[in-house]
Amino acid sequence: MRLHLKVKEKFGRKFDEEIRFFKGWMHNTRAVGAILPTSSITARRMASIINPSSGLPVLELGPGTGVITKAILERGIAPEKLVSVEYSTEFFNHLKARFDGVQFINGDAFDLSRTLGPLADQQFDSVVSAVPLLNFPMHRRVELIEDLLSRIPVGRPVVQISYGPLSPVVAMPDRYRIQHFDFVVRNIPPAQLWIYRKTH
Ligand SMILES: C[S@@+](CC[C@H](N)C(=O)[O-])C[C@H]1O[C@@H](n2cnc3c(N)ncnc32)[C@H](O)[C@@H]1O
Repeated sequence: MRLHLKVKEKFGRKFDEEIRFFKGWMHNTRAVGAILPTSSITARRMASIINPSSGLPVLELGPGTGVITKAILERGIAPEKLVSVEYSTEFFNHLKARFDGVQFINGDAFDLSRTLGPLADQQFDSVVSAVPLLNFPMHRRVELIEDLLSRIPVGRPVVQISYGPLSPVVAMPDRYRIQHFDFVVRNIPPAQLWIYRKTH
């Protein structure tokens, strides 16, 4: 009986997340850019790039329903050490209510100097991004990646989820290195994970 209730509660919550996601999606298709929330397997894989012992905060972009946020916290990052930028006010309100202590910011990841406010000069350990890059022109994707790389130490990763076969950001070997990190089949749709690093 207890187990039944637990299972029901879990599926209820998952369903609730999906409904919330769809509402955001229908409201602004360009901004959300995916069909269903990221799977917990994908989220854990993305969070695995974080170095919790660096002492630096982590920057998350496009947390949506919070699946990746949860995986980042489970990696051992204290909530106050997570700064997470979400464009949709509906998702933002939901995230604030769900994750105590996380520094959520309701703003645009493509305008971080303004969005981060007093944290604009903060160095982060790494960046975990689920913003739908493919919905934006290439020059804005490149600008975003370079902006993100300027906010983390040289050699540390920006991990980005995407759904096409190619890196969503074009190669610029003199400016950053691209690594295909993983292809996660247990995600709807199957997800590609890419890592970007600065070499010097
Ligand atoms: C593909 S969804 C991420 C889904 C999330 N991983 C989940 O499982 O719920 C993309 C997210 O990026 C957010 N987003 C889109 N454009 C953004 C922007 N310019 N700045 C910050 N967040 C943005 C959307 O509102 C949405 O929450």
